[in-house]
Amino acid sequence: MTHYTGLINRYRNRLPVGANTRIISLNEGNTPLIQLQNIPRMIGKEVDIYVKFEGLNPTGSFKDRGMTMAVTKAVEAGSQAIICASTGNTSASAAAYAARAGIKAFVLIPEGKIALGKLAQTLMYDAKIIQISGNFDRGMTLVKEVADHAPVTIVNSINPFRIDGQKTAAFEIVDALGFAPDYHCLPVGNAGNITAYWKGYKEYATDRVCGNRPVMCGYQAAGAAPFVLGEMVDNPETVATAIRIGHPQSWDFAWAAQRESGGWFDKFADEDILAAQKMLSQYEGIFCEPASATSLAGAMRDIKSGKIPEGSKIVCTLTGNGIKDPEIAMMQCADAKPVTIDASLDAVKRAILDGL
Ligand code: F0G
Repeated sequence: MTHYTGLINRYRNRLPVGANTRIISLNEGNTPLIQLQNIPRMIGKEVDIYVKFEGLNPTGSFKDRGMTMAVTKAVEAGSQAIICASTGNTSASAAAYAARAGIKAFVLIPEGKIALGKLAQTLMYDAKIIQISGNFDRGMTLVKEVADHAPVTIVNSINPFRIDGQKTAAFEIVDALGFAPDYHCLPVGNAGNITAYWKGYKEYATDRVCGNRPVMCGYQAAGAAPFVLGEMVDNPETVATAIRIGHPQSWDFAWAAQRESGGWFDKFADEDILAAQKMLSQYEGIFCEPASATSLAGAMRDIKSGKIPEGSKIVCTLTGNGIKDPEIAMMQCADAKPVTIDASLDAVKRAILDGL
């Protein structure tokens, strides 16, 4: 068996790198596709649901797929610094890959609106963090403006190399299953990821690696649902801070994915998103971050209603790791505080009997 060295090396013939390109990688990709065992039974429908657990990437989110490409190409072009706006995951990923490459990372984040773990990561990777008193959309506007005035490469998903890297998740799914799923469910924020998956599935279908393409189902938080409303949202709000976005950059690409695949967008209350996050942890042992659980919330609703019919094979992308957002997890489990007892055998025995 050969040592896995990241998605660029694995899918080199489908990515814009040359034989002499210096690859900036942390061995991202190759994430597990896990079939759910208990939740489908609880829904009471005959469906196969798989989750693509992107929280197991090196910085804990799917962003690493795009970042290995974006930073590789930035370095190849001679760039000394990268910049992004972020709700937290892109900033962590950009910071890590910049550290790996030995270049500088500047990240604009909405003050007080990114999960604690993401902030801690970004600090540890030693990025220059610029907090703004505005949301992600404002940060995105500023990044686009400043890139015209300073020697920095934008590594948000408006950078096409990000999309190229992220499309490899679709390749991995087809390579694992031997076919494309009937439905692909994922959370939509800035809409880069739905764009990337659709690009990957189309590429494999065109090249006859698989015979089918999935219906793309994009799910949003109710307070940040421009695709469901059909118009931009100026003051997005949701507990799922990763997708607290009202002006998605990949607007046209995401609509194309919906149209071409025969898919749809839908929105979910914060309570539904958090309930799906808890279910995945409690019944499957898979701890993803709140935004990620939007994909399962959507799949469950559409399976129950029959919009996704029985017999379907469904993949839900779990975009980020639950450990990134400990504050939400503690809030979710506020009623399940650890018991404190004497450090004696008797007390431990009693605690076990009480807990059975
Ligand atoms: N899930 C998570 C965990 C995310 O961090 C993001 C986006 C999304 C879903 C939505 O993906 O933007 O491609 O539609 N996070 C970006 C960030 C915006 O800055 O980390 P999308």
